[in-house]
Amino acid sequence: MRSRSSIYDIPTPALLVDVSALDRNIARMAAFFASGPCRLRPHVKAHKTPAIARRQLAAGSCVGLTCATVSELEAVKDLCEDLLVANEIVSPDKCARAAVLAHDRVVTVAVDSIAGIDALAAAARTAGVTIGILVDVNVGQGRCGVEPGDEAVALATRIAATPGLTMRGVMGYEGHLQPLRDRAEREARTRDAMRGLGETAREIRAAGIPCEVVSSGGTGTYDISGRVDGVTEIQAGSYALMDTDYASVGVPFEPAFFVLGTIVSRPSPERCVADCGHKSMTKDHGYPSVRGVDRATVTALNDEHAVIAVPASCTLSIGDRVQLLPSHTDPTVNLHDVFYVIEGERVVDVWPISARGYHEHLITPSS
Ligand SMILES: Cc1ncc(COP(=O)(O)O)c(C=O)c1O
Repeated sequence: MRSRSSIYDIPTPALLVDVSALDRNIARMAAFFASGPCRLRPHVKAHKTPAIARRQLAAGSCVGLTCATVSELEAVKDLCEDLLVANEIVSPDKCARAAVLAHDRVVTVAVDSIAGIDALAAAARTAGVTIGILVDVNVGQGRCGVEPGDEAVALATRIAATPGLTMRGVMGYEGHLQPLRDRAEREARTRDAMRGLGETAREIRAAGIPCEVVSSGGTGTYDISGRVDGVTEIQAGSYALMDTDYASVGVPFEPAFFVLGTIVSRPSPERCVADCGHKSMTKDHGYPSVRGVDRATVTALNDEHAVIAVPASCTLSIGDRVQLLPSHTDPTVNLHDVFYVIEGERVVDVWPISARGYHEHLITPSS
């Protein structure tokens, strides 16, 4: 790739990461977990970028990495020896790809069904490996997961008796509590959710089944779940890059990524249009914010256009660059092939977003 030394040389729309801000976020989270006993297992789904995962591991306090997809698992397979898929994998091809990786590292997968247990066990036995399992417990989010208590104990019993699998513990992601703006409510409800998860872990142990891992947490609750007795690891992901939605939750991390656009039209003194629409950043959590332009507001995000309302005094003109802070990290990152890594206005590196999309679905059509 041709060297591009300044943000003015980058073709837009482009995804940029401010490496100093990224490193500060990573260091702040690592410092929180340095005093243990709970550890950090950064979630790769937020950035899908091995170069960022490497920095998270290097900062310390980590037990390994968390993934949501097999593409993510494969993208970070060489970075550490303990990988968790905090998500259900049930199709035989994906189970087989996860199983192959268990030859050289600990691979653990969340399950919430007998079908899931059977699919992973079959893949593990075929590959001649053992796959670790966490019972996925619904702690209130109402997505995947069995109910706390008896249902979870029954699944754990089944896992412990299944050749090819090792029962390692439980996980419960309190995703519904991450965005709660009211800190007191977030704390109370998170503690309550973790109580149910902890009790389930105790019931599994009381049944004579191993349950060493209790995995949970995200960026909005890391300092709540991460201090609950018995929770052993936190799966936070968004903290590294931070979007504007999370910024309004009140967590101590700073925006470290943005979409760079070029002003392509200034149809009136009160309106600019940039070339970065929702094919370059999502709007499911609201419009992006404009960085460093006084009273500029995004009023529409079309496929290839960001419409920005500005005061008539704004000096932005055609060809100028604008930086937009996205409202939702994970799906925005997934739209791009690379991060341009910047220090100030200098581009110091380009990082492939290797796990974007679903590489594991690529097939060669038979002729
Ligand atoms: C299972 C699971 N764990 C952890 C996370 C990380 O949460 P956050 O991005 O809020 O840090 C997510 C995010 O969606 C998740 O789905």
